[in-house]
Amino acid sequence: MTAQHAAPKESPALKDQPLLEVRDFQVELITDGGIVRAVDSVTFSIHRGETVTIIGESGSGKSTTAMGILRLLPEDLAVLSGTVVIDGVDISANPKAIDKVRGRTLALIPQDPMTALSPVHTIGSQLFEAIRIAGAAPAKDKNALQARAIRLLEQVHIPTPDKQLKKYPHQLSGGMLQRVLIAIALASEPQLLVADEPTSALDVTVQGGILDLLLELQEQRGIGILMITHDLGVARLISDRIHVMKDGSFVESGEVQQIVDHPATEYTRTLLAAVPVLGPWDETSGGAHAQAATDPALTKSGASND
Ligand SMILES: Nc1ncnc2c1ncn2[C@@H]1O[C@H](COP(=O)(O)OP(=O)(O)OP(=O)(O)O)[C@@H](O)[C@H]1O
Ligand SMILES: [Mg+2]
Repeated sequence: MTAQHAAPKESPALKDQPLLEVRDFQVELITDGGIVRAVDSVTFSIHRGETVTIIGESGSGKSTTAMGILRLLPEDLAVLSGTVVIDGVDISANPKAIDKVRGRTLALIPQDPMTALSPVHTIGSQLFEAIRIAGAAPAKDKNALQARAIRLLEQVHIPTPDKQLKKYPHQLSGGMLQRVLIAIALASEPQLLVADEPTSALDVTVQGGILDLLLELQEQRGIGILMITHDLGVARLISDRIHVMKDGSFVESGEVQQIVDHPATEYTRTLLAAVPVLGPWDETSGGAHAQAATDPALTKSGASND
């Protein structure tokens, strides 16, 4: 557990209220081949300053869970049931309430920075738009928009932000673009970030920097993070708790160290063993994989983070 800072405006009575509470959440997709239950009775919660990770193989239902919670699935093709409460607002009882929450209390960091931004608009104009939508600066005050945009880029450690604002997405590296997307997500000062595979399109050397940035933001601002990944390396670096997903259900849940050290299911053991390890080619080195995956220094709680 890293951050202990509470969000500035909250009242003490609301301190223990989860930022996100999901109970018996279910998503059925209407497809040409029939109805697919992509998410089946999923229950979890996220408090301020916590990172909760959903990990699972491709097609296990991770993105459908996140998109269902955010109400970003097409209404005529996805049937949702169960309870979703975001910062005290029951979205399941009042689906329209998501419009007030999405992009304010809660923001999404999309998966692929190369395709998530418009190629024909500058970084500046896309960031200004996000700031306008968030109502974080007077829409017609260009100086205020510029100042806010520069502050956001500084926050995600983009060098010479005033110069970057004039650039187009193709002029920035993948890692820098992912930082821009995080800056856009931060424009509304969200309390909860939903990150669907935020580093999977990035070079391994850049991934660590982005995860570091997320942890730093969490520590500074006490935000909660819902992390979606298929990568146990990412999960163990950043998570407080992990839910392991298979065929739409959680097959096990627990503290990161517990899941990594004592996986209860064969499926989780397979995910653990699937972590790539550098070293000489050795077909019998299953033990080496397990050792790397369970090194306590590599977990959020085990890392010194200083
Ligand atoms: N548009 C769709 N039509 C039919 N089936 C779909 C559709 N979208 C998702 N599914 C099915 O829903 C299930 C969950 O998919 P989902 O994309 O949530 O998995 P995921 O865990 O995010 O996988 P990945 O790691 O590949 O992103 C899968 O069985 C998938 O085949
Ligand atoms: Mg997915």
